Parts: sequence; structure tokens; C-alpha cells
Amino acid sequence: MCGIVGYVGSKPAVDVVVDGLARLEYRGYDSAGVALLADGELATAKRAGKLVNLRNALAEEPPPAGSTLGMGHTRWATHGAPNDRNAHPHTGCGGTVAVIHNGIIENFAALRAELEERGHELVSDTDTEAVAHLLEEEIKDGAALPEALRRVCRRLEGAFTLVAMEAGDPDTVVGARRNSPLVVGLGEGENFLASDVSAFIAHTRNAMELGQDQVVELRRDGVTVTDFDGKPAEVKEYHVDWDVSAAEKGGYDYFMLKEIAEQPRAVADTLLGRIGTDGRLTLDEMRITDEELREVDKIIIVACGTSYHAGLIAKYAIEHWAGLPCEVELASEFRYRDPILSRTTLVIAISQSGETMDALMAVRHAREQHAKLLGICNVNGSTLPRECDGVLYTHAGPEIAVASTKAFLTQLVAVYLIALYLAQVRGTKWGDEVFAMVQLLAAMPEKVEKVLETMEPVRELARSLAGEKSVLFLGRHVGFPVALEGALKLKELAYMHAEGFAAGELKHGPIALIEEGLPVIVVVPPRARDVLHDKIVSNIQEIRARGARTIVIAEDGDTSVAPYADTLISVPAVPTLLQPLVTTVPLQVFACELATAKGHDVDQPRNLAKSVTVE
Ligand code: F6R
Repeated sequence: MCGIVGYVGSKPAVDVVVDGLARLEYRGYDSAGVALLADGELATAKRAGKLVNLRNALAEEPPPAGSTLGMGHTRWATHGAPNDRNAHPHTGCGGTVAVIHNGIIENFAALRAELEERGHELVSDTDTEAVAHLLEEEIKDGAALPEALRRVCRRLEGAFTLVAMEAGDPDTVVGARRNSPLVVGLGEGENFLASDVSAFIAHTRNAMELGQDQVVELRRDGVTVTDFDGKPAEVKEYHVDWDVSAAEKGGYDYFMLKEIAEQPRAVADTLLGRIGTDGRLTLDEMRITDEELREVDKIIIVACGTSYHAGLIAKYAIEHWAGLPCEVELASEFRYRDPILSRTTLVIAISQSGETMDALMAVRHAREQHAKLLGICNVNGSTLPRECDGVLYTHAGPEIAVASTKAFLTQLVAVYLIALYLAQVRGTKWGDEVFAMVQLLAAMPEKVEKVLETMEPVRELARSLAGEKSVLFLGRHVGFPVALEGALKLKELAYMHAEGFAAGELKHGPIALIEEGLPVIVVVPPRARDVLHDKIVSNIQEIRARGARTIVIAEDGDTSVAPYADTLISVPAVPTLLQPLVTTVPLQVFACELATAKGHDVDQPRNLAKSVTVE
């Protein structure tokens, strides 16, 4: 949601903090601000809009020199318009305490009223500002900054990461987390706080996970972590297995272009070490035993957005290979329903960031009903893996563009691995059948590479459709979630009306939308699925007869669709269940190119943030 950086060390804090914010800007870009401490003075600077506005302001009016302690914030607005006044950091009345925040403080209205009654003047519309004033009071009462933060946290309701500094304590930055991400970077004579490791990866790859309801005290010479009551807390250190180049554009105009291009490697990395020399799958890191998996009698997948689409595809694979009933739920709906779960239900939560609040809440809802919990996650040290019994990491590397691409493909690989592993341990497929499918899966990086090599006509097509008002997407079977994903990419990047439909549903209503020239993209299943294939060919004819401009994605050599396709996009022939790995890529390229042609920033689409840490 918002991006947070804190720094204590010997380098100019403004540079470390602003560079860190640049790497976190994907989390929100409504405003940006910094607080710096030098010679006992706390200075803040903040500007509405993207980070470049703050950079310009700092260039015009440089902050006090010599500050080696600071913090910064990039905002995705929740409470209060995205203007200078509501930008973080927020300070108390005396300007000696500054706070930045990610999340929502649900009882802020009561706290604010209480503070105003005691004579505080609050100048912003945010929920955050109340925290600055509360801290100010605690410090006036004699508490040191870490203790003041603990006291204040005990009074807060909701989800929050807070980082604070105080003019009277020139050596310390403090942070706190509840239901919102915060990681510690451990350097030599310097330490960092950030919403994610990419903010400090240029300085250190040693990191520390913070648990729920913990307060961290960051000094040059060390880090102390306690719970909200001040009791020392147990923390886990880890080494980040990617470096700074992974979090840079590497010559591409946009992160999204780089991330699309990285997909063959991301798919290969997610398979790495999971296929034994005998072709058997080993998913030991999953931390759920084979015996427990044999007891599972129902699977429920919970996720949001693109990750939900990965879940929809998983359903087909799990039912087909593992022979288990599988439901797929939007996490935000699941948690407010009364799902029927038991100890033998396996709930799989899919989340790139591992911080999506809806997904975390769905997991907690399932935990209350004693289900087994498995996370599929891309970010080491995030909250989801800690809330689940087991985790299967995708190895996409950092995904920085707001629209998910490589994470989606690796989520597909993860769900295929889980479905095949279930088939292996439960014996629903013979060993040689699992082995054969695993070999085909292992060949997918090469197939994805082939798709990427042939994308120029797709880019041309996208540019030619930049003036359209609406695009429809159709698919059947696993092509249906691919159609949903294609539509989501186009909506979020090009701000166009786009909808995905199950092709068989068209005649039950949506076909009324078809009019002369309307572009309709159709994902065609492999010819080997003859009934399914022929059904969709009929659907293409139906819409073409009504004037649609048909853009057909079909496997190489599928000549049967050519007569009905105004544009034919060919992808390598692969088994039906694996087809989303190759059919999604042209849709990503299409949306990215069309949005760019309309002049949009595809890395930072309007109104969005990479990780949605509020409900
Ligand atoms: C769309 C997109 C979002 C995310 C969704 C879930 O391109 O990126 O729809 O997929 O917000 O995010 P995670 O996977 O981090 O839980």
C-alpha cells in the first residue's frame, strides 16, 4: 500500500532514503516525503504526486547537511486526499516527533477527538497524524521513543506499520508492525527498515523478519526487537537470494517489460530443485507431510486479482491430476462467508506479495476452523508464509511493476507442482504419468521463450487498437481464467473497458455486446481437446457473424481457426492444462503495448498500488 524506509548509519540519510523510496514507489505514488535528523533538529519535506516532485523540492531547498538518520514514505492514499498536507511524515504540535505509516488505524477518529480535547491541533485529514501527537504526549511524560511507541501501539486498532523519529534521540529510528509489512536490513555500522528488502538491497542482503505486534529499535550498532509490552522478541534473520540488479530496469523502459521478458527464467527457477533425477517431485520445503496430504479430502484456494486467476487454473489441474474436489474463492468474499471446513480441508492461499490483507484474513478465517494451510508466495519474509502450516515459494524474483506478470506464470508452475505432487503421493496418477507431465513442465521455459520471440505482430495489433473503447476476451476450460487475466491486464493498464467471459456463457447474455468492429480476443484450446476445441471454433463463428473483429490465439499449426480469425496469434503446442503458460504472455504484451501507446505509465497505473495491505 504505502512504502516505508528508515535508516541509521554514516551515509547521507537523504540519499539512502530517497533511493530506497524510488525502489518502493510501486507501493504507492500519491505523495512522498522524508524526515531527517541533524544537530538535534528534525526536518521534514513532502510533496504530493510522484517521487520526482519530492526530489525537485529537495533540490530547490536542500535538507540540513550531515544527517545520517532519516526515514521516508511513499503514499497510497486511504484517509485524506493525496495532497501536500496529507503527505507523510506527520509531526506532533511541537514538530519534534515525526511518524510515517502504512495501513489503516481504525480507531483514529476517537483518538483524534481525544487529542483535540486535550488541546492538540491536527492539521491533516489522515489517520496517521494522531499517532504523532500521541507519541509527543508519551515523550513529554518521560518515555523514551521506543517505549513511547509501544505505549501508543497498545492503543491502536487496525493494521499498521509505523516508523518514528524524535529530535531528542539522535541515534534511534523506531518501527512497529501489526498486519502490515516491515523488514529490517542489517548492515555494517548501519541498519535499515523498509516495507520490503528492495529498498535496502543495494546496501545489504542480510535481513530480519519482524513478527506480529513487534517494535524494533534501530541504532547504528544494533537492533533490538520487543513485543508491544517490551518483552524481548524472537526474530529470524535470513539472506536475500537476489541482488540489486534484479530490482533495476536493466535497460528496459519499464519494469513491466523487463518482468515479461524474465518469464522463461522465472518459470525455470520455480521448477529448480523440485524435480528429482528419477522424475519424482520433491517439495520437502512445503512442511506438510505426505501423510497429511493423503488425508486431505477437499481443497479451497483463496486469492485476489491475478493470483485468483492462477487459483482458477489450479482447480482444473487439481481435479484432473489429483482427483480432489477443489473450490476457488476470492479471499475478500471467503472471509465473510461461513465456508464448511475441517481438519482434512487444505486451504491454499496464493499471494505474490504475501501481504495482501484480504488473503491474510482469509487464511486466519480458515485457521479458526482448523483447516491445513498452504501458502504460495513470492516474497521471502512476508506475512503469509508465517501464517500458514507450509509454503511453496515461487522464484520469480522481485516483481516491481504494479501489474503482475512473471509472478502469475510462476504461480501457475507452483500450482501444477502441487497438483502433480498430490497425484504422486495419493497415487491418483501412475508414477510414469506424473513423470511424463513433469518432463513437459520442465520444457515450458523454452516454450515461453518462443512466445516472446514472436510478439512483434501482437505489439503492432495493440497499437492499432489504442483508440478502441472496449475489448472482450473469451476462453473455455483453462482458457477462461486466461481470458479474465487478459481483461484485467487491459483494464488496469489501459483504463479501457475489458471483460473476460467463458465462451459458452456468451449466448446467455454477453453476446448482446457484440457489435460491428468490436475486438474480441479468443483463447483456443489445443486441437487434442477436440470437443472443447470445436465448441470454441463455433463460438468464434457466432461472434464473427455479428460483426466482431476476431483476434484468435491458437496453437501452432491449428489451421482450422484461420478462416474465422481477422488476426491469428500462434503459440507453441503444449498440453491443455499447461497452455495458460503460453497463452497469457501475448495478452500481457498486448495490454502493456496498448497502454504505452495511450501514453500511460505501465509500471504505475492510476489508483493502484502493488500490494493491497488494507481490506
Ligand atoms: C493485477 C495484480 C493484482 C494482484 C492482487 C493480489 O495485475 O497485480 O490483481 O494480483 O492485488 O496481489 P498478491 O498476489 O500480492 O496477493
